[in-house]
Amino acid sequence: MIDFRSDTVTQPTIEMRRAMADAPVGDDVYGDDPTIAHLQRSAAERMGTEAALFCTSGTQANLLALMSHCGRGDEYICGLQAHNFKYEQGGAAVLGSIQPQPVVNQADGSLAIDDIRAVIKPDDVHFARTKLVSVENTIGGRVLPMNYWPAIQQLCHSQQLALHIDGARLFNASVQLGVDIQSITRHVDTFTICLSKGLAAPVGALLFGSKDFIQQATRIRKMLGGGWRQAGILAAAGQIAFDVMPERLSDDHVLAHYLAKRLTEIDEFEVDPLSVQTNMVYARCMQGRSRELQIYLQSRDILIFGGDPIRFVTHLDVNQASVDTLIKGIKDFYTRSI
Ligand SMILES: Cc1ncc(COP(=O)(O)O)c(C=O)c1O
Repeated sequence: MIDFRSDTVTQPTIEMRRAMADAPVGDDVYGDDPTIAHLQRSAAERMGTEAALFCTSGTQANLLALMSHCGRGDEYICGLQAHNFKYEQGGAAVLGSIQPQPVVNQADGSLAIDDIRAVIKPDDVHFARTKLVSVENTIGGRVLPMNYWPAIQQLCHSQQLALHIDGARLFNASVQLGVDIQSITRHVDTFTICLSKGLAAPVGALLFGSKDFIQQATRIRKMLGGGWRQAGILAAAGQIAFDVMPERLSDDHVLAHYLAKRLTEIDEFEVDPLSVQTNMVYARCMQGRSRELQIYLQSRDILIFGGDPIRFVTHLDVNQASVDTLIKGIKDFYTRSI
């Protein structure tokens, strides 16, 4: 199968599988797993934070962040398109009694500073207590501009709000900008990074922050049934994902540009190659036949999601030949349908 649905479909590399087999492990609830401890320590060091926490998923890492920053009756501000608002089952509200206050995402994916300011609640018995702003980077494949960070940091600081990044694909952002990841994260209090997307680990995400914050997140993770036992087996793959795999993300970005350019050969598609920033390409299927196309391509062992627009994602397990096969498949679909 050639799979363009997401970068979450990547298979662990041979090196990851070997490291998993050889990993020294222990009961991490007792703090006894050396492989998890090493991942958390080395990741925090590289990111310049006091501490890091190995989590099952990006969803869990986001939830722990929201529940550690906010208590019952508190509120966090986020984008209408934010993963932790739209695609995580409202976990913050369901499990944390935290009210989301969404604002519209701008065209570049950011939250306008004035929009955030307008929804921060004054201290008044009628209102939830605003505690946190959560932004996403990358968001829908777009990278938030570097000059955004001092502005949002300044706003949060002046309003005594914490600032969190859902950084599932934060390495993609740093690679695309050609900047060290710390030049982004030094502006925020906490952030996440997913190991199991473009970085190709089978499982896992990391949550970063201060020692106290991570201690609180660890307590909540245990409450939610997320206390690890001998999960060093997973952290061993995560370590390789974190140490080695960010370097190769630029390959995904180059391939996404190639894919977008080739899609322009197809009259039935509308795509702007200049809009591609990282590893995602969004294309409108002008005849609204994306579901039919999805079924046809599946019969040729090519997987896409048939939405509108269609999102194509490049990753470790696809290459230029996969894109060529995809384009041929799409062309054949339309030729056959005439
Ligand atoms: C921006 C973003 N945040 C969080 C997540 C959740 O990650 P997971 O699927 O590991 O729970 C995703 C998943 O695709 C994501 O795209």
